[in-house]
Amino acid sequence: MIQVQAEACGSSHNARMTSRSTSKPAAPRRAKVAPAQAIAAPEAPAQASASPSSQPVDIDQATPLLAGLSPSQFMRKHWQKKPLLIRQAIAGVQSPIDRASLFDLAAKEDVESRLIVQTTSQKPSAKANAEAGWKLEHGPVNRRSLPPLKQGGWTLLVQGLDLHVPAAHDLLQRFRFVPEARLDDLMISYATDGGGVGPHYDSYDVFLLQVHGTRRWRIGRLKDDRLQSGVPLKILSHFEAEEEHVLEPGDMLYLPPRWAHDGIAQGECMTCSIGFRVPDATELAKEVLVRWIEGMEDAPKRRLYQDPKQPAVKHTGLIPSDLQSFTTDAIERLLKDREGMQSALGEILTEPKPRVWFESGDVLPDGVGVRLDPRTRMLYDDERIFANGESWRAAGKDAKHLRALADHRALSAKAMGQVSDDVRELLNQWSEDGWLHPAP
Ligand code: SIN
Ligand code: CO
Repeated sequence: MIQVQAEACGSSHNARMTSRSTSKPAAPRRAKVAPAQAIAAPEAPAQASASPSSQPVDIDQATPLLAGLSPSQFMRKHWQKKPLLIRQAIAGVQSPIDRASLFDLAAKEDVESRLIVQTTSQKPSAKANAEAGWKLEHGPVNRRSLPPLKQGGWTLLVQGLDLHVPAAHDLLQRFRFVPEARLDDLMISYATDGGGVGPHYDSYDVFLLQVHGTRRWRIGRLKDDRLQSGVPLKILSHFEAEEEHVLEPGDMLYLPPRWAHDGIAQGECMTCSIGFRVPDATELAKEVLVRWIEGMEDAPKRRLYQDPKQPAVKHTGLIPSDLQSFTTDAIERLLKDREGMQSALGEILTEPKPRVWFESGDVLPDGVGVRLDPRTRMLYDDERIFANGESWRAAGKDAKHLRALADHRALSAKAMGQVSDDVRELLNQWSEDGWLHPAP
């Protein structure tokens, strides 16, 4: 088994209601990062072809998923701008997981889960909410520690369901009209009657898809971000709803960042929330710089400070101005190295989430296509391919096939028959590492 760690980005407010991940960014996976390896000699850039083994989203096609808007129209009119209520976004939707399997999953070490129990009032009114007490338990959550199903007012949240349940992974694929670098995960909540996580806001865009039972959402622009004190969750103390919507299975609500919301289960219910990664400027800069500099430490030639003209000093405590200039110059040189920055960014954006493990596989048989493992993160830029925190240089036909793999998460047997020996060797390695699997 190969273990990988570290998640790069994500800002947060409430627990997944927060960073889409509750974990702190971990240290970079590799101590040293060599410049992206070349897997092919540069050729004229080629367009990525659509792979028949995937279902690309048509961004100009009106879709019920977005209330009859096309993804392009949705992005223009609503994304980061205003909410959208979508009745029957996915008609006949089924929860990607049943209750019993969800409870089993929440008990696992490698699954991120939380249990939230309202300890007093369960009545869905602003006053009652303000008075409610809250208990938060981080997973793994044992079946035995769950309150009885008959007890109202509790919620079990499981993040990253797409990493563990193929149906959840497939559901998330419908939202790939947003760049993959921004997609975070699919979280599911199970709630008993009256359950919810309290009025709060998130720093990321979210699609709240009702997959079982009924939930009443009250939403409003964030006018006052003061929080209740003495509770383990970030709950707004002065929430004012502007709209109220009761969502049935198949209905979906899109909310831009910083829209306050409070969802209360009407009877037992399950809600899937598709959330997005929101890099924080300082955090991202810090991570990119750390990784980038680690790559530079490998450089054969180092530039050391020299001061042959340094006179003797009376004030020995004073930092020499030449040393200050040397530092400024070092940082300026660093910022000019766009190559290093872009490699570091792609590697960070594709770092698997904490607790992600891959099970090793075998070399690919001849004549098959491939499909990325749901846990694999794969992106590309103009010169590089990134997967699970590593990078390769690619151009020409190699780049075309690898970009298609990133875009569609699959390559057909036909496309596999056309890849170069270098790419085949790379994909064989990925197969052995469990990053991808043979597909018919
Ligand atoms: C959310 O508010 O982002 C989801 C909460 C829930 O599903 O209960
Ligand atoms: Co929320």
